[in-house]
Amino acid sequence: MTTPFRMGFIGVAGIAKAHMKHAQPIDGVELHAIADISEDALKKVGDEFEISGRYTDYKEMLRDETLDSVSVCTPNFLHCQPTIDALEAGKHVIVEKPMAMTVDECERMCAAAKASGKQLVTGFQWRFTEKAQFLRDQVAGGAFGEIHYVRVQALRRRGIPSWGVFTDKSKQGGGAMIDIGVHLVEMAHYICGKPNPVAAYGSQWTSIGNKPCDAQCSWGVWKHDNYTVEDAAVGMVKFDNNMTMMVETSFAAHIKEDVMNVTIMGSKGGGTFNPLEISYDQNGYMLNAAPHFVAKKSDFAEKMRHFIETCRGERSNDSTGEDGLAVQKILNGIYDAIDANAEIRYS
Ligand SMILES: NC(=O)c1ccc[n+]([C@@H]2O[C@H](COP(=O)([O-])OP(=O)(O)OC[C@H]3O[C@@H](n4cnc5c(N)ncnc54)[C@H](O)[C@@H]3O)[C@@H](O)[C@H]2O)c1
Repeated sequence: MTTPFRMGFIGVAGIAKAHMKHAQPIDGVELHAIADISEDALKKVGDEFEISGRYTDYKEMLRDETLDSVSVCTPNFLHCQPTIDALEAGKHVIVEKPMAMTVDECERMCAAAKASGKQLVTGFQWRFTEKAQFLRDQVAGGAFGEIHYVRVQALRRRGIPSWGVFTDKSKQGGGAMIDIGVHLVEMAHYICGKPNPVAAYGSQWTSIGNKPCDAQCSWGVWKHDNYTVEDAAVGMVKFDNNMTMMVETSFAAHIKEDVMNVTIMGSKGGGTFNPLEISYDQNGYMLNAAPHFVAKKSDFAEKMRHFIETCRGERSNDSTGEDGLAVQKILNGIYDAIDANAEIRYS
């Protein structure tokens, strides 16, 4: 009989439940303990997933020596310290996206992982989709040549989170750019071979979320009176391989429909995530092509499988703390340029 892989969870609302749902079916996994400041959340989630170890102070949970790993699923301002505490307590950690609120926090998390010798996985999931894997394989195999430009779009017409602290900048670090831009930026950066940013420029605005919701939408009524994040932010980032990334993000904007896409333009070819297609010239003609078959993968199931197998030493970490740090540099570089109202250069 194999030793169980015992998992703990800090902050047990919506996303922690997704971690549990996708981890539970994996062989040998035991959902062992949960921690949340809300007794109500502990009861609901503990009862639903039949978890008896329940703590209102996550530090107490970390004293459980039988615990192998921790999922950090608290709001963004509570990603850094619980991650460091868990690593120092000898647990492997998967921390939800964005890795943290600042680059400095991410650097401290990476240092703690290194000192502990434990795995730190940044909880990105888009890179594990079959479409991202296909595009990454095209780039890595040279099908697109030199990547000149990548356009990243995470645009919602009216999708302002109405729960939690998603519209409070002091607890989130920002709005659309850090909350949903992070998903498409991490995927694009991964597909394009993780180049280093050298300069960033950006712009943001708010004109919808800071007013009462005046049109029907499926996301519920947001908290407009304490709305301190941006509705929309755009940024342009230049990288050390001469690639330029344009990032467009919105929680709310007057656009026809939501767009979640990555478009890549290279010297020999290009491609899009949505629809999954590549474009190139062949024997005097311009061609568009789609793969005949790509094995479907569930992004979240793959994310949890990757974490557990990485902790067990069965595969290498393909979503590291350093990956989270690199993405944070892109996002925070754009925010820094917005604050400076000027191009910023990365040191
Ligand atoms: N990967 C994804 O697709 C995805 C989707 C949604 C959210 N997220 C991320 O997951 C995180 C949580 O999102 P959510 O929607 O579940 O948030 P939420 O606000 O619904 O839940 C956060 C939970 O953390 C608990 N909490 C707050 N302070 C705590 C503390 N000191 N100790 C323990 N628990 C504490 C709250 O009581 C709550 O139960 C965010 O960082 C968000 O960006 C990721």
